[in-house]
Amino acid sequence: MNRLDSPGALASLRQRIIEQRKHDKPCISICGGTGCLALGAGKLGELFIAELAAQGLSDSIDIRHTGCHGFCEKGTVVVIHPSDVCYLQVQPTDVPEVVAAVKSGNIVERLLFTDPATGEKIAKQSDIPFYRYQYRLVLGDNQRIDPKNIEDYLAVGGYKALSKVVSGMTPDQVLSEVEQAQLRGRGGAGFPAGKKWFTTKNAPGEPKYVIVNCDEGDPGAFMDRSVMEGNPHCVLEGLMIGAYAIGSHEGYVYVRAEYPLAVTNLFRAIAQAEEYGLLGKNILGSGFDFTVKVHQGAGAFVSGESSALMTAIEGRVGEPRPKYIRTAVRGLWNKPSNLNNVETWANVPQIINRGAEWFKSIGTSGSSGTKIFALVGKVNNTGLVEVPMGTTLKDIVFKIGGGVRDGKKLKAVQTGGPSGGCIPVEYMDTPVDFDELDKLGSMVGSGGMIVLDEETCMVDLAKYFLTFLADESCGKCLPCREGLKQMIDIVTRITRGEAEMEELDTLEELAETLKDACLCALGQTAANPLLTTLRYFRPEYETHIRDKKCPAGICPDLVTFYIDADKCKACSLCIRTCASSAIVGSKQMVHVIEQSKCIKCGACVDICPPKFGAILKVPGRNAPEGTPKEPIKVRHKVK
Ligand code: SF4
Ligand code: SF4
Ligand code: FES
Repeated sequence: MNRLDSPGALASLRQRIIEQRKHDKPCISICGGTGCLALGAGKLGELFIAELAAQGLSDSIDIRHTGCHGFCEKGTVVVIHPSDVCYLQVQPTDVPEVVAAVKSGNIVERLLFTDPATGEKIAKQSDIPFYRYQYRLVLGDNQRIDPKNIEDYLAVGGYKALSKVVSGMTPDQVLSEVEQAQLRGRGGAGFPAGKKWFTTKNAPGEPKYVIVNCDEGDPGAFMDRSVMEGNPHCVLEGLMIGAYAIGSHEGYVYVRAEYPLAVTNLFRAIAQAEEYGLLGKNILGSGFDFTVKVHQGAGAFVSGESSALMTAIEGRVGEPRPKYIRTAVRGLWNKPSNLNNVETWANVPQIINRGAEWFKSIGTSGSSGTKIFALVGKVNNTGLVEVPMGTTLKDIVFKIGGGVRDGKKLKAVQTGGPSGGCIPVEYMDTPVDFDELDKLGSMVGSGGMIVLDEETCMVDLAKYFLTFLADESCGKCLPCREGLKQMIDIVTRITRGEAEMEELDTLEELAETLKDACLCALGQTAANPLLTTLRYFRPEYETHIRDKKCPAGICPDLVTFYIDADKCKACSLCIRTCASSAIVGSKQMVHVIEQSKCIKCGACVDICPPKFGAILKVPGRNAPEGTPKEPIKVRHKVK
């Protein structure tokens, strides 16, 4: 490939690629995101190629290996273009049937999405509720392109924005477009991207750096990973546009080494962009030079913080430093450095192509555009969802997520990862944007969204996040290092029924101290999940402390398993299952759990036949009054 030396050469190449691709030629698009690969998508791809060859269809049907389609819950996802027919949970044995259906224009009914409410089969991907209520500005191209093939990106309009910028806009015009679009950083705090770019541009010192943060350490979050894996060129294009506006000629992509596919696809995208003259010296003949390097991070949560991340790129331990001077002014090697996360950069080409006013027309007045969330937890449809800012939590959980699993009740939604908070069910009409979630004590954060059902213990949940953060703390400052340990100690004793009521005040005091005295955002926000659970679910804490009961039935020290004498049929399945030998009983004798031996594993509940339903779990430390302590004769035999 000869380097493209002008915007005109890029436009001609794009035209040629589009013309070569027949629009009506069927294409089998196979999700090759990490989730689907784990389910065997790699093998599936090989089988499709072999099947097409066996049926002599290799020239008449295309195959495309793409990034994540978002509906990871139902992987492996296969979509047929241009018909948009979507097959879910495709297995190797399904391949010949799918190929035959593509050839004949038929549909394999059994692989279609079934609407749980109506039982109706839905053929088109865009009609499946999970997709229908989304607005996939950033994620949408993931399923249309092979991230390893730059021509796929060019075919959907890739690098058009870069070309427009370097050939016809001044850096100030670019910056002003991004400022007017009111793009806010998608990585955590929602700081206006344009303002940050402006700060770096005007800060004294050369060179200036632009950096992509693809660290993403929140439990359950994988949106940056999926964009980097599925569409690395759009991130690079956004980065280059930012560099042009800021006056930077060197960029870094900080990416977790634990994201091997993202790393591979990124390296390949960089090599291809260089080969095509879209990266390097004199880009598209404009005189603009830009190079980019990749830094593979060791995957410490705290290294996602800007000063820690930059220290890691410098080759030192990725720990935060006091930011008396912001990294936008003095960052990498003490030079002005602009850091944005993957999703923020990925929005930039669209803003340039379609304009600030268009971008502002999506979302809310304070938060423009869309946001990708990793919708996980006790929800029917887990996966990546992209919605306009301002979409309500209820719509995300029920319309897109398909509601709570197993018909359970929704209790809360945890947003924003360890720095965010829990929003109770009463607030599900809240429009999700940076400001509204902040008012509730939570945050958009990088976009983690964990659905919690009635069987979630909020004290246990707070303990989980505190423990995660204590493990991830770099230990540099005392309030974080010691404060988190003390908080975990108190919360653990609450879950064991050993704490006093006054300790709730101590927890709040510690939380305030961390907020005021910690060096970085990890420590400053560490108490948010705890504080929101205390704010909205205080009675649950009090019940643990005062009544020694876990209302959700989760904390092992505060629940009791017992066998209902009226329901036990003495089938002995539970005796054979209990690894602690805690169950006693014999033929025709009602079985009994010896509480001192029970480790609360719940295996007996699972094995007791549902038609008997004789083993129950109750909050508290005692079985109900009247529960036999010794085996007694059964009232009904097993039939
Ligand atoms: S707040 Fe915690 S993670 Fe942040 S610098 Fe201090 S010890 Fe390290
Ligand atoms: S909960 Fe576990 S340990 Fe306790 S009785 Fe049932 S199987 Fe045995
Ligand atoms: S990895 Fe296949 S849909 Fe997400």
